[in-house]
Amino acid sequence: MTDTTTKVREHYRGTDLSDRIRSVLAAITPEGDTLTVAQLAPLDQFHTRGILATTELADAAGLEPSTRVLDLGCGIGGPARYLAATFGCRVTGVDLSPAFIDAAIYLTERCGLSDLATFQVGNALDLPFEDAAFDTVFLQHVAMNVDDRSALYAEVRRILMPGGRFAVHDLVLRVGDTVYPVPWARDASTSFLLSEGDTRAALERAGFKAVLWRDDTQAALHWFQAAMTGLPPAGPNLSAVMGPDFPAIVGNLSRNLRENRLGVLSAVLTRD
Ligand SMILES: C[S@@+](CC[C@H](N)C(=O)[O-])C[C@H]1O[C@@H](n2cnc3c(N)ncnc32)[C@H](O)[C@@H]1O
Repeated sequence: MTDTTTKVREHYRGTDLSDRIRSVLAAITPEGDTLTVAQLAPLDQFHTRGILATTELADAAGLEPSTRVLDLGCGIGGPARYLAATFGCRVTGVDLSPAFIDAAIYLTERCGLSDLATFQVGNALDLPFEDAAFDTVFLQHVAMNVDDRSALYAEVRRILMPGGRFAVHDLVLRVGDTVYPVPWARDASTSFLLSEGDTRAALERAGFKAVLWRDDTQAALHWFQAAMTGLPPAGPNLSAVMGPDFPAIVGNLSRNLRENRLGVLSAVLTRD
């Protein structure tokens, strides 16, 4: 593991995460009760625009029950559970953080989805899968933590079937410096953002062709605005995962978007 990977894993260390999640969930439902994907959404969709973004990206990717999906950098498994519950497809989640994978497995059991969604620790740059093992790869708010973008996209291409789909939801650099800390990095040492143009060039060099390429920055700004003016979502939210200063850190992301320092990109690409 490189120094960078170790630092990224440290950022998502999630000390005692499953126990903390267990206790915040106990406040809304007894341990033995089944949870729904919708109930968990404020807690387990670790990206801009939450479950709404996952829903839109999944619809654009065109999933079916037979689609073999890899959710790369799956966090605590919210998107993977949504895909499994909605489309009835098998989803494999991989993440660098052992604590996140533990929590993903626990939450998936609580949702009764363990037959469809499975999780394992792994590095996106060195995946434990054979060539062409998946039909679709999801990558939501992960690429900015990976220092070698070409290696990341080459690895995704390797494990995708020819003609397979790559669904991407990323933050991209716009103008000026990024204000830190942000949800994925305390400082610039573990943040590897690219501009939209450089992201597209890297994807094309790796053998991907865009079938959807959409700037979602305005939609994200509206979402942040609504979140700031409305009531906070009922029940546990991402602060239970990332700590009590998380709302302030999310505020920096919102500021970066508002000041055109960063943008939000959604894309679906096919592998050649
Ligand atoms: C902001 S979270 C997004 C989680 C999830 N995709 C979601 O949208 O809910 C970024 C995730 O990427 C994972 N990650 C970062 N670098 C990774 C790598 N090289 N390999 C695997 N996972 C990685 C982190 O551990 C973290 O869980």
